[in-house]
Amino acid sequence: MKTLSRVSAALALIAPVQAGLRFPCSTLTFQRLDPVVEPGAVPAAHVHHIVGGNAFNATMTGDVGERGTCTTCQMSEDFSNYWTAVLYFKHPTNGTYHRVPVLPVQPLLGGSQGASGGLTVYYTQFDLNKDNLKQQKVTAFKPGFRMTVGSPAATSKPHVGLRYQCLTGQNRGAEMSDFPTKPCTGGIFTTHHFPPCWDGKNLDSPDHQSHMYNTISLDGFTNAPACPSSHPVRMPQVTYETVWDTSKFNSLWTTGPNPFVWSFEGTSGYGTHADYMFGWKGDALQRAMDKSECFYDGCGSIKKQQMTVANTCTVKEMVKEETVGWLKVLPGRGGEMAPM
Ligand SMILES: *[C@@H]1O[C@H](CO)[C@@H](O)[C@H](O)[C@H]1NC(C)=O
Ligand SMILES: *[C@@H]1O[C@H](CO)[C@@H](O)[C@H](O)[C@H]1NC(C)=O
Repeated sequence: MKTLSRVSAALALIAPVQAGLRFPCSTLTFQRLDPVVEPGAVPAAHVHHIVGGNAFNATMTGDVGERGTCTTCQMSEDFSNYWTAVLYFKHPTNGTYHRVPVLPVQPLLGGSQGASGGLTVYYTQFDLNKDNLKQQKVTAFKPGFRMTVGSPAATSKPHVGLRYQCLTGQNRGAEMSDFPTKPCTGGIFTTHHFPPCWDGKNLDSPDHQSHMYNTISLDGFTNAPACPSSHPVRMPQVTYETVWDTSKFNSLWTTGPNPFVWSFEGTSGYGTHADYMFGWKGDALQRAMDKSECFYDGCGSIKKQQMTVANTCTVKEMVKEETVGWLKVLPGRGGEMAPM
């Protein structure tokens, strides 16, 4: 009896929490493309780190989930694309730029599950520990839906939900609204939380943000307070987490302020931003949002794939330019002729 109760206590401890989806997506590509903000532009203004489905293109319209044939995400019915700007190291003395590699996020449980670079995606229904589906319906995005959060033009005002952490070993450190001011031995961790309330009508808006509304005023994974009547539809709370492996540049940071810049030459951390292009197949995301899923792997109503399979999904090099380094100028920042 004693043994048995010990076993069941241990099982209770590892029982999955019920709080939406969290899953890795490997890197799909680093390219100067942005089908949300600059559709059709090859190249777009700055380099992005893009994960997700292979329907990714300079222009994306219609039902992405029906067009995708593979995805770098663990959830194999998710052909969405997720992207952010890219972090570069600007050499403090010779001024050249080198792209900072990305590492899979190490979740608190489960390791990186074989992801290659990439980022971690969350679709939460309430907060990190529960779903509260009895209290509120969470409505999945519709085909064609897209949104952005943050702006490369922002230079001063902190934006709630867009944060940096300085990684040292297992410690993520405090959430900050600007770049760390000291070298981080484990890299720089960036978080992008999207707003949770939709106007119920528009798949996009001229600024790619006004069709959504943010009611969250706290950092971290907190449940969104009630949506306003202008934006009454409660959507999943989408979040990206990325680990930028700055470690090999730390010894070159011998002088001066933070040498890490965003790919739009964003020396201020406030310019951090992210883009979302919905592309789940059919009603897969809605099925997941209607259930209490296993937090770490979405077991149950939606399909998964091995990351070794996800890692084989690719898209073509469409811009055909060097983005790694050491570069005299950042791609798109002058010094080269933009292709006509
Ligand atoms: C990307 O768009 C181009 C131009 O419209 C098209 O020729 C190509 O097939 C598209 N690629 C994918 C993967 O959809
Ligand atoms: C700048 O420094 C890096 C790292 O030490 C080096 O690899 C690169 O060649 C240097 N570039 C120039 C233009 O001096």
